[in-house]
Amino acid sequence: MVVSQVTNHASRVTLHESRFTSHEQTMSRETLTLSPELYEYLLAVSLREPELLRRLREETGRDPMARMQIAPEQGQFMGLLVELMGARQVLEVGVFTGYSALCVARALPADGYMVACDISEAWTSIARRYWQEAGLAEKIELRLAPALETLDALLEEEREGQFDFAFIDADKENYSAYYERCLRLLRPGGLIAVDNTLWGGDVINADDKSADTEAIRSFNRMLQTDERVTLSLVPIGDGLTLARKRG
Ligand SMILES: C[S@@+](CC[C@H](N)C(=O)[O-])C[C@H]1O[C@@H](n2cnc3c(N)ncnc32)[C@H](O)[C@@H]1O
Repeated sequence: MVVSQVTNHASRVTLHESRFTSHEQTMSRETLTLSPELYEYLLAVSLREPELLRRLREETGRDPMARMQIAPEQGQFMGLLVELMGARQVLEVGVFTGYSALCVARALPADGYMVACDISEAWTSIARRYWQEAGLAEKIELRLAPALETLDALLEEEREGQFDFAFIDADKENYSAYYERCLRLLRPGGLIAVDNTLWGGDVINADDKSADTEAIRSFNRMLQTDERVTLSLVPIGDGLTLARKRG
């Protein structure tokens, strides 16, 4: 009896292994490169973009700077993170037309609250229109000023250690400065998400010595050894670095 159980188990293992063998060429211990078709599939089976966000994406698509907007699956992922954390107070550095802010604000609880930083009246007027339509305008405090000034003001307002989540997606040369301030504003266990850390692949393009690219490279290098946080660079969108503040 025991022998036959072992035999059955062994044959189940063999069957299981043979299934693996048939995927030998495709299974990988590295992150998969997405072909356009596989990316379409990923969206088809997992994206749940509400109609309002789709309309915002389409309207932004007519702006010459539309490429600045995050990918919809990234917005959905950030909403999931915020929901998982039960985040209540959040920060955004770089609003543009408001897509990422809307993804995050939708995931906040009833008493949730966002401070959103940008310098553009024109782009954020689009954002405000959509936040209003979503019924979330009350939750989002837009501060129109250079983000460093806003973050310093929050520190002066004694908001240190109060925020649960921060999303950094503005001018790249200030990334390190935004990160340092956000780290102070976050509670222990809070999460900073930093956009564009793969920078369209240019982080490894030796010919690209532009200030933005160098800033992202040096930010990435600094973070790799920053013991104040737990780290992961998630290859979603243009690269999203997650840094959780240690206690
Ligand atoms: C990449 S876009 C943000 C995209 C946005 N997160 C989204 O998903 O649609 C960058 C934004 O940063 C803003 N920005 C640039 N420099 C800034 C600064 N010094 N302070 C605050 N915002 C700034 C720009 O006006 C622009 O709206």
